[in-house]
Amino acid sequence: MALNLDAVGKPIGPFTKDYTWKDAVLYALGVGAGFSDLDYCYEKDLKVLPSFGITTMYDFMGELAATSNVNLAGILHGEQELIFHNPIPPDGTMTTQGAIKHYYDKGKEKGALIVAEFETYHSNGKKLFTSIVTVFARLDGGFGGENAPAQKVDFPDRDPDFVVEASPSEDQPLIYRLSGDVFQLHVDQEFAKMSGFEKPIMHGLCTHGYACRALIESLVPGEPEKVRRMACRFKRPLYPGMAIKTVIWKTGEGKAVWRVINADTNEIAIDNGEFEYGDIPKEEIRFDDRVAIVTGSGAGLGRVYALELARRGAKVVVNDYGGARDGSGKGSATPADKVVKEIKALGGQAVANYDNVATVEGGANIVKTALDAFGTVDILINNAGILRDKSFVKMEPENWHTVIDVHLNGAYNVSRPAFAVMKEKGYGRILLTTSAAGLYGNFGQTNYTAAKMGLVGLMNTLKLEGEKYGIKVNTIAPVAASRLTEDILPPDFLDKLKPELVAPMSLYLVSETCPVTGNIYNAGMGCYNRAAIVTGPGAVVSKDGQIPTPEQLLSQWDQIASLKGAKPYQNLNEQIGDLLAAFSQPAAETGGESSGGFSAVSDVFDAMPEAFVADAAAGVDVVFQYEISGEGGGQWLCEIKDGSCRVEAGAHEKPTCTLSMDAGDFLDMMNGKLAAMQAYTSGKLKIGGDIMKSQLIEKLFKLQ
Ligand code: NAI
Repeated sequence: MALNLDAVGKPIGPFTKDYTWKDAVLYALGVGAGFSDLDYCYEKDLKVLPSFGITTMYDFMGELAATSNVNLAGILHGEQELIFHNPIPPDGTMTTQGAIKHYYDKGKEKGALIVAEFETYHSNGKKLFTSIVTVFARLDGGFGGENAPAQKVDFPDRDPDFVVEASPSEDQPLIYRLSGDVFQLHVDQEFAKMSGFEKPIMHGLCTHGYACRALIESLVPGEPEKVRRMACRFKRPLYPGMAIKTVIWKTGEGKAVWRVINADTNEIAIDNGEFEYGDIPKEEIRFDDRVAIVTGSGAGLGRVYALELARRGAKVVVNDYGGARDGSGKGSATPADKVVKEIKALGGQAVANYDNVATVEGGANIVKTALDAFGTVDILINNAGILRDKSFVKMEPENWHTVIDVHLNGAYNVSRPAFAVMKEKGYGRILLTTSAAGLYGNFGQTNYTAAKMGLVGLMNTLKLEGEKYGIKVNTIAPVAASRLTEDILPPDFLDKLKPELVAPMSLYLVSETCPVTGNIYNAGMGCYNRAAIVTGPGAVVSKDGQIPTPEQLLSQWDQIASLKGAKPYQNLNEQIGDLLAAFSQPAAETGGESSGGFSAVSDVFDAMPEAFVADAAAGVDVVFQYEISGEGGGQWLCEIKDGSCRVEAGAHEKPTCTLSMDAGDFLDMMNGKLAAMQAYTSGKLKIGGDIMKSQLIEKLFKLQ
């Protein structure tokens, strides 16, 4: 096994963690908090310790191990840096995504370093923290890479300004592990002995949490929200029950260095500690160095978007064809030129483009204008629009096609070349413009509403195709006074419908900060809400393949039609997963007792060739890729072709589907304690690629 050097930059995640105040309190208790710092332990006005952010990294670390192909027997948590952007709220969902940034080679016998960086956002839309983790891979050195640049933290040659003593209990790891790090080394006597320790050791990150409390108590007492950065290197393990001291030196305004030492031996357990603190910097969404295209920005909403983007630092391509409200006429340079002039008067940067989005050449030329003037495209707002309202029978083909061409085909024409640039650079924001008329229907607008819902379909798939390239695709449904709506919206309302009231949502959705992709938001008059296509749980009317009668459906109509418990799906696979789950019974119901056959992940793969049912494989040509994280995990591939089966460790270049799972869950599943469908719907089993083909596994292998 060698490190997978191609994994640098490949996205890991996103992983989500739902949590409540109880999780935050459990973590605080795990790192020694109690009545002396009740702020972290009492749900009334609860403050969350910033180092609680660490608990988001376990899934990430599992996938990092699988992606990097690191030898699990040799890994140690080397360094940890947390940069805090906003305080962690007491409950919600945290979403974490990142990538491996570097590999460093210390030499053949000395090991390698894997540096990964990830960002965590809260469901309230705020970026909470950036985490930079360095994994020391003791057994993976000597691959010919460069060594890490030397990093030195200077400790003042004087007594520390603060010394905070603590005595973690003998049982501390038992509480700490409940926050997610359940590695046996911290609980299992035998495992600890096998690993060369006399008994289970403290989690380094548990001691890190003690240090975080000590630093807050000394430097920003009672104000954990003022912690800006905390970095350190793990040096030596500690046994539970050993007294520790966090020693702290202030080194400048809002800066300190720190260590954790064993209070009895004075040996350093955590070294190179750095700590920064101060007020949360004012959050301003900026677009400096970003290049944005806004189609149809010679007037109305697009003009306001272009002005606001430029005001916040973006270089803007102001596209406008300059035709009539119904798209007729030869076009005019005036609207785009006027807006470019306005932007320049503000000190911003902009170029005009007069192409028609409704043609493929027009779309290509709009993107070319951005590349020629500014060298790239980061943001595309598909905004250009026209109206040709007619009741359906009077809707002549020309009116139908012209409207579809501007709105739906227009978005295709510009987004496609822009997406290619974004994909190449690994970053992009695309905003599509739908309409409440499309989402909910409006008399006389079949052409417009069909186009506007077509854009939602475009988003649904483009968000998936963009995900791994850092491209987020969302949709806005604005309501604003403009040339388009001057005779549609009630006149009394027009002055309340300033386009400026829509722009904040559009800007947020194309900002780097934007945490979502594939969502639709209504925006107008100062009210903002999310719209979504949701699906109810429905009813299984026939389980055994018998065709139900319409009457049978009617008898369960309430349940079929109910939206109680409805949910929005992120993709087709999720919906198919639920559909299949409705037909499968949980292991408990099927009497799925453990057959107890497998105690190690590798045993399962060793057994697969034997368990292969060749008769079931006629005409089957698939590659299943397994990515098993955690203890004993790794990568295995299983190739079925021409009735034969090949199973081996490693990664396949083009797997049909990839099954990712934690080692413990995988063993539970293979030992019959966890039904595959339960694992899938609970998120324990993630399937990428062709989910339907993964259904073959049960047929192809008789493992239990
Ligand atoms: P607007 O008429 O003020 O601005 C649209 C701009 O697009 C115009 O300057 C026009 O010249 C330009 N344009 C039209 N066809 C073009 C083409 N083929 N190529 C390049 N430029 C072209 O309209 P408004 O209200 O600002 O609309 C912007 C977007 O918001 C449209 O997509 C519209 O459908 C959508 N929308 C607006 C609502 C509102 O309440 N204003 C409601 C729902 C959606």
